[in-house]
Amino acid sequence: MNARVTWTADQPSHLFYQSHQRRPLLDRAEGVYLWDVNGKRYLDGSSGAMVSNIGHSNPRVLETMRKQMERATFGYRLHFENEPAERLAAQLAALAPEGHDKVFFVSGGSEAVESCLKLARQFAVATGQGQRWRVISRTPSYHGATFGALGVTGYEPLNAPFTPMVREMPKIPAPRSYLDRDNFSEGERGLRYAEMLREKILELGPETILAFIMEPVGGASTGALVAPDTYYKRIREICDEFGILLIYDEVMTGAGRTGKYLAAEHWGINPDIIAMAKGLGAGYVPLGAMLAHERIVEPVLDSGGFMHGYTYAGNPLACAAGLAVIDEIFDQDLMANTAKIGARLKGELERLMDAYPFVGDVRGKGLLLAFELVADRETMRPLPREANAYLRLVEHAYERGLIIYSRRTRGGLEGDHFLVCPPMITTGAQVDEIMGTLKASLDALAAELKLPRA
Ligand SMILES: Cc1ncc(COP(=O)(O)O)c(C=O)c1O
Repeated sequence: MNARVTWTADQPSHLFYQSHQRRPLLDRAEGVYLWDVNGKRYLDGSSGAMVSNIGHSNPRVLETMRKQMERATFGYRLHFENEPAERLAAQLAALAPEGHDKVFFVSGGSEAVESCLKLARQFAVATGQGQRWRVISRTPSYHGATFGALGVTGYEPLNAPFTPMVREMPKIPAPRSYLDRDNFSEGERGLRYAEMLREKILELGPETILAFIMEPVGGASTGALVAPDTYYKRIREICDEFGILLIYDEVMTGAGRTGKYLAAEHWGINPDIIAMAKGLGAGYVPLGAMLAHERIVEPVLDSGGFMHGYTYAGNPLACAAGLAVIDEIFDQDLMANTAKIGARLKGELERLMDAYPFVGDVRGKGLLLAFELVADRETMRPLPREANAYLRLVEHAYERGLIIYSRRTRGGLEGDHFLVCPPMITTGAQVDEIMGTLKASLDALAAELKLPRA
């Protein structure tokens, strides 16, 4: 068959994603807004999937991409080095914690996490620690869709179909201290959750543990979970005690989203390996990176090389766009705006708890924010699973021109949380717009599910 076709919007679609749900065709996007082909405007209150950090159609990024496209769009890494990749690697090394002098480019978050797992393993083999292979992670968590990343992901509906095919890695509970009803202080709870890592290491045999991977601020699986401050330092100490590599999955938190370039900076933590994606390409190009300490990379390269790589690694167009995104973040002082606007938006979300008793928790950092709905704030009992509030509220908001991002809170099985993560360029007036639409959407949900009002 060699038939050529021209698809038009009145024809059936051949595309599929996760479900039967389909959305209107996108026409154009600018700043924090997107328009569909019917002319309806949407405020991008989740930056897509926490991706479009500097907003849409940024002129500087577009111009940089156009210039790079006119020079070269592809030069395979076995045949050529390219300047945008070199410059972006140098820039990332300068922004990363001390010692992260080596950068490995990929095209997305799952690829970045796979790369971290494989580098960690090859480092162990190269340094005579071949008995280390277990990577401990947390549940709930999300680290990506590919089999290696899925093995460290703790989110039941995503794991379940693949259980026989995936080497599932050991899990400890994510530090969801907001659900705890005990007499401990937040600091004590943080230490208690960190001790769970130590107990797991001792249970499995420290000599078999390769790494611990965590999202410094949770993403879609927990809804912007921030651990108590004490957690971060204690986790680093425990990894050091047993010679275990600490991997920070900054796919969602990185590139300024929490108000610092990397979330690790909030707690002064220096992980051994870092995964980045999403905001690195910021929706302009598929781009991700692994940042690693030289002392980890060198033994691997010296002992036969890193047995891993992707065709599009270090693509000059992607890296040129990535550099322009970083230039915009710094020149427009977007991390300061993220901290300021994020604090304002978080305050507004917290005020929702006064009017809507079914808003049970508000959490997050910078512009990685979420709120969770519950049936009972005292016990944090979730709304009935079959009410599907996590889908309904998103639809109410979408109808009203606001995009937010939701997931099931309790390991994917029940619970309803909503990420409110607009681009880092968001203004105060746009925060007001988000809150106005969100309140109208919560009112509609309350009426529909007969939820109590204050
Ligand atoms: C923390 C985290 N890690 C990894 C991934 C996977 O990234 P991607 O969808 O680009 O493969 C995601 C995506 O949501 C994420 O949030």
